[in-house]
Amino acid sequence: MNDLLHNQNKDTDSAVECLGQTFPNDQARRAHFLKLLAEKLKDPEFRKQDGFPQGTDDAILAMSDPPYYTACPNPWLAEFIKHYGKPYDPAMKYSREPLAIDVSVGKTDPIYKAHSYHTKVPHLAIVPSILHYTQPGDIVLDGFAGSGMTGVAAQWCGSAPASYRHELEVAWKKEGKPAPKWGARRVILNDLSPAATFIGANYNLPFDVDAFAQAGKQLLKAVEQDIGWMYETLHTDGKTKGRIEFTVWSEVFTCPECAGEVNFLDEALDEDSKRVRDSFPCPHCNAELTKKKLERLYVSKLDRATGNALSTPKRVPSLISYRIGKTKYEKKPDATDLALLEKINALPLPGDVPVVAFPFADMWEAPRMRDKGITHTHHMFLPRAAQAMGELWAKAQAHADARIRAFLLFMVEQAVSGLSVLNRYGPTHFSQVNRMLAGVYYVAAQHAECSPWYILGGKLDRLVKAFGNFKAGAGGTAINTGTAARLPLPDSSIDYIFTDPPFGENLPYAELNYLVEAWHGVITQAKLDAIVDRAKENRAAQKSVDDYRRLMADCFKEYFRVLKPGRWMTVVFSNTQAAVWNGLQTAMQEAGFVVANVSALDKQQGSFKAVTTAVAVKQDLVISAYKPNGGLEQRFAERGATSESAWDFVQTHLKQLPVVKVRNGELEYVAERDPRILFDRMVAWFVRHSAPVPLSSQEFQDGLRSRFPERDGMAFLPEQVTEYDKKRAQVAQAPQMELFVSDERSAIDWLTEYLKRRPSTYQEIHPEFTTQLGAGWKKHEKRPELAALLEANFLQYDSAGDVPSQIHSYLSTNHKDLRGLEKNDPRLIAKAKDRWFVPDPNKAQDLEKKREKVLLKEFDTYLAATGRRLKEFRLEVLRAGFKAAWGQKDYKTIIKVAQKIPEEALQEDEKLLLWYDQALTRTEAGA
Ligand SMILES: C[S@@+](CC[C@H](N)C(=O)[O-])C[C@H]1O[C@@H](n2cnc3c(N)ncnc32)[C@H](O)[C@@H]1O
Repeated sequence: MNDLLHNQNKDTDSAVECLGQTFPNDQARRAHFLKLLAEKLKDPEFRKQDGFPQGTDDAILAMSDPPYYTACPNPWLAEFIKHYGKPYDPAMKYSREPLAIDVSVGKTDPIYKAHSYHTKVPHLAIVPSILHYTQPGDIVLDGFAGSGMTGVAAQWCGSAPASYRHELEVAWKKEGKPAPKWGARRVILNDLSPAATFIGANYNLPFDVDAFAQAGKQLLKAVEQDIGWMYETLHTDGKTKGRIEFTVWSEVFTCPECAGEVNFLDEALDEDSKRVRDSFPCPHCNAELTKKKLERLYVSKLDRATGNALSTPKRVPSLISYRIGKTKYEKKPDATDLALLEKINALPLPGDVPVVAFPFADMWEAPRMRDKGITHTHHMFLPRAAQAMGELWAKAQAHADARIRAFLLFMVEQAVSGLSVLNRYGPTHFSQVNRMLAGVYYVAAQHAECSPWYILGGKLDRLVKAFGNFKAGAGGTAINTGTAARLPLPDSSIDYIFTDPPFGENLPYAELNYLVEAWHGVITQAKLDAIVDRAKENRAAQKSVDDYRRLMADCFKEYFRVLKPGRWMTVVFSNTQAAVWNGLQTAMQEAGFVVANVSALDKQQGSFKAVTTAVAVKQDLVISAYKPNGGLEQRFAERGATSESAWDFVQTHLKQLPVVKVRNGELEYVAERDPRILFDRMVAWFVRHSAPVPLSSQEFQDGLRSRFPERDGMAFLPEQVTEYDKKRAQVAQAPQMELFVSDERSAIDWLTEYLKRRPSTYQEIHPEFTTQLGAGWKKHEKRPELAALLEANFLQYDSAGDVPSQIHSYLSTNHKDLRGLEKNDPRLIAKAKDRWFVPDPNKAQDLEKKREKVLLKEFDTYLAATGRRLKEFRLEVLRAGFKAAWGQKDYKTIIKVAQKIPEEALQEDEKLLLWYDQALTRTEAGA
């Protein structure tokens, strides 16, 4: 039986198959595995695993649905693979080109919106990728799965509606791609955070949608019966009962002039325009006030839950928004409303509300939370909201069916932030639901305290509709809670990895997930959260860019281990800092992956651009990398660091690259086929194998030219070139590499391209060259003199001897009167004199050697410099110096010089970082 298709445990008494065992029904399956998990949890060794979350056995068991989902490392993952996977077979033919995807599509899809999570990647963005790289039944892995959208995408490949299939097939046909093989793929999802994996599990494990719809309705009704009275208010007619949708609370300040109390909202809000005025008069002394001039007022009270005294901002209810039937009204709270709030305030905190101290020493947000009188999780809720959230949680927990119970919690946990003081009041917004500031614990001066039905009423309907259309299959997904650096999976068992790792300094996931996790009672092991930290009190626990890179390197090493050779990994990354992006790329290459394409979506043009240098702008990057097949690794082990190994690498790498890329009928330059980028990839490959690089850049360019056919500045395999030529014949223009001049290296590359097309005199080059050294120039990189660059890298014809062929062919093609002249013709000589040109390979190698000597000499001066920091330098000098030191295993020199340059300069240069990181690793390993 294909158990991917048998879904929906509607019939609770039908037999189910799981990992080769048959159970009378799904409850029996769950009970069996929960018992095994309970036993495992008692084993201290099991709990010692890296990334194991903090939580009691009961709390972990309550979240889990084994063997498919465990809120801790999943002991059945290996069995899942054994049962459903196909062992790696080197004889099996597999070949794909890298694929770039648009990660922004599908953000309005109801399934995507069913549960929010930080930086969610929509499943519809992932589907094409999975279809491209895999076959039905293949196993896909996402180790930073967050809310589990990779799982939804893998299932969608089997359940996509006909209209979607048709659209995709038409689009692929246009690109010359054959139709994909439809059918669900199996997936393994992992995340460090139990809050994330719980969302992922609920998205991906089947449930009875009708039963949930009914249970959800009952739950909201039961909550209404119990605490509906807390949300009643008297209409302004003095007799009709209205139902409160939200109450706006405003902080109270003091006037700096008269010390009188000022309710900010009452005074600053313009009732008609619903805008907050920049300045307003003090209600007591009429002094002109602005928000900045006011001082927040604090009140001291006893926190009955902890027994501690607590100082919190004074807040008063300012406005009540309520409904009678379908009509909405607003009012100022009256005495009855205030008395009601007092009555609620006197109630004890419901048992389900967590009373847990925030781990402030390890939190970015600690200062601003303290400032608002928040030290424990229950301080996030005003008294009525605490009652409401406690009720919702308790009622969901009480449901008899485990799967429905989990999905009810999936629904109600979405009210945790919305009911908390994080929910800001937006006077001009139509709805006050989910108005938290993303990615922070920010408590605004005005809070909209919503009712549970206002938040969840519409949500329930939307969930039912969304999950009615998308039905998860049983047995297709296994979910693990732990670190991606230690996946309980066998070697070479995964067919494809799609992953969206943390973006450095963007979001502290563990910290942000803490609040919801406190409700579940299972907390992320924050020490392994792969982020770059901002300042926090516990300095010892702070993570630098280096720590981030190492954490990521450990995770990528694990990815490398579990992926089958020859298979692909897609990494999507929203880039804000060049250093972080570089760190990620270095980590990937160190692990052994070979990067075959980096693309950024050009939102305006709707097309992808190849990214070849570290970029610092906010862009969504899609990196395609592969694990080389066993043959290459094995041959490398046998041959060692020889030039043969380098060519073997290039040969294998070229096979993985796209042959043609067509956009709007035009051919695009395949940047990865550029000799300079191929050289960088080859260097990274050798460095990662701790081997000296056997070829200089010029030797490489020269060898490449003689070994592989070149077209339009790109290298191909002989068998690829016919396809390229065929396409090339159909288009008018040759594709061109887009060069962005940002340092000496790229300035030389720019000059090379320029002089190849047009050998020129200094005077001709100078104005154009100067415009290239513009705003994008790297901060610490010394600006080169054009004359010096020309001198060190190119040749000038001084009119002695024949006109070099480079100049000859340029002049005779571009000047009618110079056509057909001999190379020693005086007219030609006169026109050729003083022109700079690109040397032929032999001469280029001589120049390179000479230049390298000069660079190394300058490097020695960096090494000897006594000051603490080099402010301005040449990256080319550092690169040459690091490379030479690496070749001599002189790691100390690399580290010593690296410490003299500003951190950002090091972190932002892919080449320097690679040597430096390896030097650090070797030194630490005692090599
Ligand atoms: C960018 S988010 C992924 C979001 C996901 N694409 C989605 O659609 O929901 C990165 C995730 O990495 C997780 N994470 C951080 N460090 C980790 C580690 N060492 N191992 C596994 N997951 C980790 C965070 O908890 C976070 O959920």
